[in-house]
Amino acid sequence: MKILVTGGAGFIGSNLIRYLLGKHPEDRVVNLDVLTYAGNLENLSDVESNPRYRFVRGDITDEKTVSEVFRDGVDAVVNCAAATHVDRSLFEPRVFVRTNVEGTLVLLEAARRWGVRKFVQVSTDEVYGSLAAEGKFTEDSPLRPSSPYAATKAAADLLALSYVRSFSVPVTVTRCGNNFGPYQFPEKVIPLFITNALEDRWLPLYGDGANVRDWIYVEDHCSGLDLVLREGRPGEVYHIGAENEWTNRELTELILREMGKPASLIRLVEDRPGHDRRYALDTRKIRSELGWQPRHDFLDALRRTIRWYRENRGWWERVKRGEYREYYERAYGERLRGSVPA
Ligand code: NAD
Ligand code: TYD
Repeated sequence: MKILVTGGAGFIGSNLIRYLLGKHPEDRVVNLDVLTYAGNLENLSDVESNPRYRFVRGDITDEKTVSEVFRDGVDAVVNCAAATHVDRSLFEPRVFVRTNVEGTLVLLEAARRWGVRKFVQVSTDEVYGSLAAEGKFTEDSPLRPSSPYAATKAAADLLALSYVRSFSVPVTVTRCGNNFGPYQFPEKVIPLFITNALEDRWLPLYGDGANVRDWIYVEDHCSGLDLVLREGRPGEVYHIGAENEWTNRELTELILREMGKPASLIRLVEDRPGHDRRYALDTRKIRSELGWQPRHDFLDALRRTIRWYRENRGWWERVKRGEYREYYERAYGERLRGSVPA
């Protein structure tokens, strides 16, 4: 099978490409990525000379480039390309509408025109908005996105599902919880806190630190995507999650303990506007219908992730230079000046 992975130079896309090439020796992968600040070909340096892998630099909103890729032959699509950071979506929502909504539309149109066996729309639990202390999101929960990021992902999900009903494009939507692992851009909380701790910088914890996230190791997300790609039913939504909830404060303290760093590095900063209190996914559907389950123990995977950032200092130091510095000052400068110890 020839699989088009969009956004393959990002965190999940690069882990997925490595997973697919390793697990399925008969498959070929084309990676279409425009290389925004979050896209990095270093993430795939170990597969770049694999004859079953090809990189195309291009934008998913560009119909011409997308058509050329499809004309070359594509059996299936996994759409990982997106603008993905909630905090950035508060600064520049238009980029999110363009990539996440218009980009998905361009891919769906190409899939409709050229025909594909499967189109997996990679989505997130954030489309549901915030949960109270009890209960979990099911695949039928109402969509109540809080951030521009989540709203554009919800829009893309609905557009994707409409292509099943209107045009019989075989789309399946996956919604996953918070991922962590190697190659994650250090704007997201786990790699931000690990790399800040490695530099003995403050860890800016939003609000009271009691927000809850449902964490999954990226390779488990990839195994779920792979299974949905092959066996997921068109028109269906599947949750992928490890049912592994942590408050941000518990998680931060755990990271520091594992790294042998003091809790005094934690600073409470002004909260994120619209900050969802809790996410938690009910994952019975994918487990019972497709027989999927996560393989990785959370603590082992977190330790492995910390080791990866320790051993790949060059990777994140390069990533944290340039545009990122400006972003960090904009997002955290004022907040950290007004912060208090946790
Ligand atoms: P990421 O920000 O690390 O990577 C996104 C990639 O998309 C980058 O390589 C970037 O260059 C590329 N890209 C952005 N705009 C593009 C465009 N217009 N054309 C082509 N390529 C473009 O993101 P990620 O964390 O790997 O997330 C991948 C997908 O998984 C996203 O759809 C995201 O919503 C979803 N998701 C992420 C998480 C998470 O915890 N990271 C959880 C659930 C779902
Ligand atoms: P993040 O990694 O941005 O993922 P998401 O917003 O998609 O869940 O944030 C995870 C949690 O960590 C979220 O509750 C916000 C919080 N957070 C902080 O407390 N400080 C930070 O600097 C960041 C980036 C996030």
